[in-house]
Amino acid sequence: MWKRIFGGKQQPSNGGYKFGNTHLIELRRVIKTYETAAGSFTVLKNVDLQIDRGEFVAIIGKSGSGKSTLINMLTGIDRPTSGEVLVGDAAIHTFSEGQMAVWRGKNLGIIFQFFQLLPTLTLIENVMLPMDFANMFSPSERPKRALHLLEQVEMSEHAYKLPSAVSGGQAQRVAIARALANDPPILVADEPTGSLDSKTANAVFVLFEDLIKQGKTIVMVTHDNDLARRASRAVIVVDGEVTNQYVSHALPHLGVDQMTRVARQLKRELHEPNATIVSQGDTADRFYIITRGAVDIFLPHPDGQEIHVDRLTEGQYFGEIGLLNGDSRTASARAYPDGEVEVATLDREGFSILLQESDQTQVVLERMRQARLERDQRTLVNGADRSSGNGTPKVTTPAPESVEIE
Ligand SMILES: Nc1ncnc2c1ncn2[C@@H]1O[C@H](COP(=O)(O)OP(=O)(O)OP(=O)(O)O)[C@@H](O)[C@H]1O
Ligand SMILES: [Mg+2]
Repeated sequence: MWKRIFGGKQQPSNGGYKFGNTHLIELRRVIKTYETAAGSFTVLKNVDLQIDRGEFVAIIGKSGSGKSTLINMLTGIDRPTSGEVLVGDAAIHTFSEGQMAVWRGKNLGIIFQFFQLLPTLTLIENVMLPMDFANMFSPSERPKRALHLLEQVEMSEHAYKLPSAVSGGQAQRVAIARALANDPPILVADEPTGSLDSKTANAVFVLFEDLIKQGKTIVMVTHDNDLARRASRAVIVVDGEVTNQYVSHALPHLGVDQMTRVARQLKRELHEPNATIVSQGDTADRFYIITRGAVDIFLPHPDGQEIHVDRLTEGQYFGEIGLLNGDSRTASARAYPDGEVEVATLDREGFSILLQESDQTQVVLERMRQARLERDQRTLVNGADRSSGNGTPKVTTPAPESVEIE
């Protein structure tokens, strides 16, 4: 299927896809401005977004922040005022309406909050519709395939009913079967569980998880924090800007509102290769999340040398030890030598509000602090061995993933 759709590139080679894009979905500097009677209104402000094949991405943010506008850029339902939208080998912002319809019919499955099944067609006819439109599969194959898809969503026994004769959750499952009609590699869903009760929403979500296992890529707008957390990544939209995706990776226990607030308080810092970001002994005044590149952590050793104890990468954080201790920095942090490093910083006040508001975050950060202090202790002991001639220090560093709440 991938051969057919993306010109035989299972994985992009080093050059990436046709337009130099290396991610399956890339939005580059996308701006969307609406002209209204009250003047022009910019809804998306220079959005950059990358999504890889096989990812399950949740788009979260407050009402009116621009989530639907953002995913309408991916589906071509709406067009950017400027910027590029690249999906595989397609530059969809350049497509005519006709090209867009053909491309969309084959490559995307789209799911909305309110199912949008055609009321006069039976469920199986609704599922066959995209195959008819895109002229996919032979006419005799279509009913069989539609029935098979209805089976996948456990709706085959209702195949010949009209949409009005089934429940909301059932209708949404049919809408998912319809989205899968042409076996698209990408599913885009705008609040697909928004009109469902939590049990039904969960069943729909489980279906999405299955589709991810089958290799699909899913981009889903949701208001539901719990569901967003179960996706592989959450992208937060704040006032038409995509806040750095690594914030939600670093602090996965925050709710949407807290995440939005933290994202607003973050300041971006750039550091040259090898630049010192934090010096041991300095007063701890900020919390750091790495948003590009990597950061090396060094401990001072009594013999005057520095010991490299860890390398942290995108989505990992540092600086919590000094802030939690209410004390000075216990280690130094330097930008790695391979390129510029970007970090998002939260000041002391923002950090303490964060802890007050999220008990889970507090627990996780506290555990990380403990784990890192123990690591430092072990390193210093091993480092002492080294200075007494017992070989190189053996350093074990705790991965943040290993510090989870049971
Ligand atoms: N066609 C349009 N013309 C003018 N303004 C628009 C248009 N479509 C959306 N907007 C405005 O753009 C902003 C973002 O809208 P959007 O629908 O993307 O928000 P959202 O994050 O999906 O919100 P919700 O969670 O309520 O669905 C809103 O202020 C909205 O009023
Ligand atoms: Mg919306």
